[in-house]
Amino acid sequence: MSAPELVNVTIDGRDVQVPKGTGMVEAALAAGIEIPVFCYEPRLGAAVGACRMCLCEVEGMPKLQAACTMTAQDGMVLRTAQTSDQAAEGQNAVLEFILLNHPLDCPDCDKGGECPLQDLTFRWGPGNTRMHFPKRTFDKPIPISPLIGLDRERCILCYRCTRFSELVAEDGQLVAVNRGAQSLIATFEDEPYRAHFSGNVIELCPVGALTSTTYRFRARPWEIQNVPTVCGLCPVGCNIWATTREGKVARILSRNHPEVDDGWLCDKGRFASGHLGAEDRIREPRRRVRRRGFEPVSFEDALDEAERGLRETEGSVVVAFSGGESVEQATALARLVQDGLGSRAALLPEPFNPALARFRAPLSAIRDADVCLVVGDDPVVERAPIVDLWLRLARREGAEIVTVHPSGTVPVAPGSAASVCAALAAGGPPKELRTAARSLKRAETVALVWSQDDPSGGAHIAALADKLGEKASVYYLPRTPNGTAVAEAWGPADAPAAAEEIGALIVSGDEAASDPRVRELAERARFVLTTTMFENDLTLWSHLVLPGTSYLERDGTFVNLEGRPQRLRRAVGPAVEDELAFFADLAGRFGIGVDRWPSELPQERAPLPPREENDGSIKVPPASRGRQNGRGLQLLHYRGLFSGPAVDRVPELQFQRPLAEVEISAADARERGISAGEPVTVSSNGTTRTLTARLNRRLLAGVVRIEEEHAEGLAGRVEVRRA
Ligand code: SF4
Ligand code: SF4
Ligand code: FES
Repeated sequence: MSAPELVNVTIDGRDVQVPKGTGMVEAALAAGIEIPVFCYEPRLGAAVGACRMCLCEVEGMPKLQAACTMTAQDGMVLRTAQTSDQAAEGQNAVLEFILLNHPLDCPDCDKGGECPLQDLTFRWGPGNTRMHFPKRTFDKPIPISPLIGLDRERCILCYRCTRFSELVAEDGQLVAVNRGAQSLIATFEDEPYRAHFSGNVIELCPVGALTSTTYRFRARPWEIQNVPTVCGLCPVGCNIWATTREGKVARILSRNHPEVDDGWLCDKGRFASGHLGAEDRIREPRRRVRRRGFEPVSFEDALDEAERGLRETEGSVVVAFSGGESVEQATALARLVQDGLGSRAALLPEPFNPALARFRAPLSAIRDADVCLVVGDDPVVERAPIVDLWLRLARREGAEIVTVHPSGTVPVAPGSAASVCAALAAGGPPKELRTAARSLKRAETVALVWSQDDPSGGAHIAALADKLGEKASVYYLPRTPNGTAVAEAWGPADAPAAAEEIGALIVSGDEAASDPRVRELAERARFVLTTTMFENDLTLWSHLVLPGTSYLERDGTFVNLEGRPQRLRRAVGPAVEDELAFFADLAGRFGIGVDRWPSELPQERAPLPPREENDGSIKVPPASRGRQNGRGLQLLHYRGLFSGPAVDRVPELQFQRPLAEVEISAADARERGISAGEPVTVSSNGTTRTLTARLNRRLLAGVVRIEEEHAEGLAGRVEVRRA
């Protein structure tokens, strides 16, 4: 790559050299000078010049110019309000104009104390007001969704929120209505703002017009602490600030990591922290007492009980992981069970495939790819939401996005991801994949995204990446936040003994506790030890229940889907000792030394399985396109982002839950006389569910798609009829 052409500009008398085309706001920063802005936000696309806060004097131009709309040109001489009286007067007038109708309710406003308008008015604005008349008022707050309130009179019409909705998330739900002085921000047709990334507009709003209903009036900026940590709810691992007040997490904000999340969060990560205070939270260890249910016990008594249970059943121990454990927790359990108790039996949430490490790249590299190939049945936005935003950005930057799944740009039958990769890797692919194959060949950089469960842990996509060579990067999207690192920490796992009695079962976390396979193991186990945050079916089957912790209550390490280890920091403390302390102490009783603190954990890991070279001999099902044989329609289900124990316990998030819908192809709907939005019955295996029909013109004929929660009891092929 050739070095960029440099140009010389002079700002407030300081000469600076920057690459040609650099925005003037950034060029000024390079010279150590701040140009104040409201509407300017490079992540939202091209500058719109809406607020005029950045007015500057430019030599050779008769009027003041909006610096945010200009790029550096050689010889440009610019004077900001710091050295130009004309610019200072202009900026002062802009602020006076912005404040014309803006209420001066800073003491009440949630943004007060951390508000760009307040700060810039203090630094650059008029010292007093000439407005001695009533200001505009509106009903307030207007709930644009259960998560976001709009105080319309505070809006300064910078269009950051609408640009985010239109250009970044591309949900098109926030719009500006009316014109000129009557312009207002509203949702499309006044429907609730229901989208995966809606909460980002709260952070983008430079005034207190958009506020979070879960944080509103809960804290003032001088009462809070912001703890830097990472989100533990999906494998992206967005960098976050956990704002705490009086020992409670009050809100989650982005801590912009430009390579991971680009400063965006999904609504699950932003709003689900309310689960920490759920009423059904288990707050103390409890032990089952014969014929009397459970009794609370101390941490020490719980250790005695666990030691007794494991000693009596030594040698026959199974661990069921959730995939939300930190590396240190998983390592502690591995040391206890493998080294202390001599068992390798485990239910791991994800496979670990070291072959993928060769193709690691930051998520931001998706933006720079020429071609992005997305294979797998699960919608990317439901598995790893921020990856969806990176793919949208890549498309806007000119990348070709090829999606190969039942409703993709190349529609293929469910479960075809492996065969698609194999066909593309082998060369001479079937007709429907030829255009994609040509694109992959022509491209200089390729991002491969795998979005499906894969027992091989990504071997197929790694084989395709092998064929593509250095130009390929791979993004394998696991189902769980830290499951691949947990699998790596555990090493090769034995399957739990089939059908025979199990000595002891250790269930780690709420996801494992609600897994039907774990429930089946619990019924066969003589001793069940469960760590879980909330009451669930499995707590009743357990002999010892330990209070589990959230990712916001733990120190430790999470490894995200890029393979990037990131530090979890404890934002608030759990009521008792956490799982790591418990299993470290328990390991000590079996003669195994494990530190109770993540920073001091030994580095040894269980040996990894031998690395397999891809030789193209992976067994794959044949790629198929079009209608499947057999009666009925093939059911495809996926897990929606807004599901799981944390979401279940946050009332404000319930409107985001997946709708009770069945997606059906236009051809299948026509054949059955089904119209969009009408109720239909979906049946299989004696189970019938009534759902709303959603016509998907891209979906392959012969396939229906339903979110997991609404597909309960349905499997295989289903009959769909008008209700
Ligand atoms: S609501 Fe906030 S972000 Fe949206 S236009 Fe108004 S001031 Fe800007
Ligand atoms: S995308 Fe994933 S890691 Fe990021 S905020 Fe959402 S759930 Fe958390
Ligand atoms: S920041 Fe330049 S016009 Fe708004």
